[in-house]
Amino acid sequence: MSDNPKWYDSVWLAAYYAAKDVVARVAPARLEEFVRSFDVLRTSPDFSAQHLPQVIDPPLLGHIRDVIRAIPRDKYELHEMQSFGRFIVHDYPEITALQATLVDKVSEWAGEAVEPSYNFLSLYTRLGVCEPHLDSPSAKWTLDICVDQSDPWPIQFSQIVPWPEQRPLLADAWRDEIKANGSLQFRSLALHPGDAILFSGSSQWHYRNPLPRDGVKRFCDLLFLHFIPRGARQIVTPANWPVLFDIPELAEIPNLDRAM
Ligand SMILES: [Fe+2]
Repeated sequence: MSDNPKWYDSVWLAAYYAAKDVVARVAPARLEEFVRSFDVLRTSPDFSAQHLPQVIDPPLLGHIRDVIRAIPRDKYELHEMQSFGRFIVHDYPEITALQATLVDKVSEWAGEAVEPSYNFLSLYTRLGVCEPHLDSPSAKWTLDICVDQSDPWPIQFSQIVPWPEQRPLLADAWRDEIKANGSLQFRSLALHPGDAILFSGSSQWHYRNPLPRDGVKRFCDLLFLHFIPRGARQIVTPANWPVLFDIPELAEIPNLDRAM
């Protein structure tokens, strides 16, 4: 039986499926237009994840490390410790300021004009792991910057794939099935401090295997700076859809305001 996706950051896709159901019911003649309206958030199949060595020079990297060290511990969010083995901090002012300075470069690398969406600092502990997932289109583009680490921790990327347009059929072992899916052509990239990867997480499956559990106290401090196409903030936000598409019934979708 098909169901809403269960992977991390799939709440947006669940809202999109629910919205398509509503449009098919109340304005079926507009369904194709509705689907095509999201093309700005879809990624060209020509793009592949880019490893960008030494994007952050040593002085700036030192500054970022100082900023991170000075973050009060009560800003740490704990809700992903069990699932990812990490502390996170969203939209910390100094990190948001850094993200703003990278807009032009990310636009160049992405091949389209972008604007900042949101960001978070991810402090992976020795329990670090990242299950396979597709991000919400609010993270169409991600600049993943390595700030510090015990040793390189590869991340695997598929090629660009179309969004699953229907609710997927997920077996209990869906994580393993995605990793083993030969059509996804996973490719491994590893970062050194100061390096970054630009990827399109909403259209590329990605994951990190668990850090080795070998008694070594491993860690990995990463920045995730998310960008969207310039001007796409309205459509990327599901809460805007009832007004944007002039379909009031879309407001009846549960938790639409929480789907980002
Ligand atoms: Fe992701």
